[in-house]
Amino acid sequence: MRGMLSPSLMCADMLNLQRELETLDSLSVDYVHLDFMDNKFVPNITLDASLIKAVKPVLKNMKRDIHIMAYAPQQYFERMDIGEGDIVSVHYEACDDLHDVLAEISARGAKAFIAISPDTSVDVIYEYIAEIDGILVMTVYPGFAGQPIVEGSFEKIKAVRELIDKSGRELILEVDGHVSWDLCAKMREYGADLFVAGSSSVYQKGLDLGDAVKKMTELIK
Ligand code: DX5
Ligand code: ZN
Repeated sequence: MRGMLSPSLMCADMLNLQRELETLDSLSVDYVHLDFMDNKFVPNITLDASLIKAVKPVLKNMKRDIHIMAYAPQQYFERMDIGEGDIVSVHYEACDDLHDVLAEISARGAKAFIAISPDTSVDVIYEYIAEIDGILVMTVYPGFAGQPIVEGSFEKIKAVRELIDKSGRELILEVDGHVSWDLCAKMREYGADLFVAGSSSVYQKGLDLGDAVKKMTELIK
């Protein structure tokens, strides 16, 4: 599977989101990463559900890559207008009834991903392997941009890649957190397919977004 880019909108210029989205969309970027936080599962609030819904009609080429860092994430699906073409990542650690949550995402025609935080073992995925379209490996603790990569992240990526290959299913391995200029190629080598690019790459201060996207696309292809 070719390497795909998903710039993290929470790292963009908050006062010019429409312009940021249109720029990304014109560059034929694969996905835009939309972080939703409930201030309970993680101690932060970022993009809200109505903004995540409002993004949908603006996108001509890009698809939504929605990362829900919230308990009982299914309560937000309607408000976000979850549907065909979306990736929706829900946290293993935040769902009591993960089978039902994954089934609801699929029933809406979206791709269902399990997100696992750094302290969660890869083994938890086995039970859901037949019900998912991908796995979001958090390489930082969820909740904030600009953090350093967590020790052991590469071994985690490798272990998830082995799990996917053993399953025989064409699942997408997404990495999120400190996907930096100097680490993204190694993440690709270890088996990542989809790269959330934030403050340590395309949204690094002072860079031209278009040039940065082109450079990152080269590094992960
Ligand atoms: C953090 C979010 C990430 C974040 C990545 O909880 O899930 O998407 O925006 O930001 P960087 O790339 O700066 O770690
Ligand atoms: Zn994220």
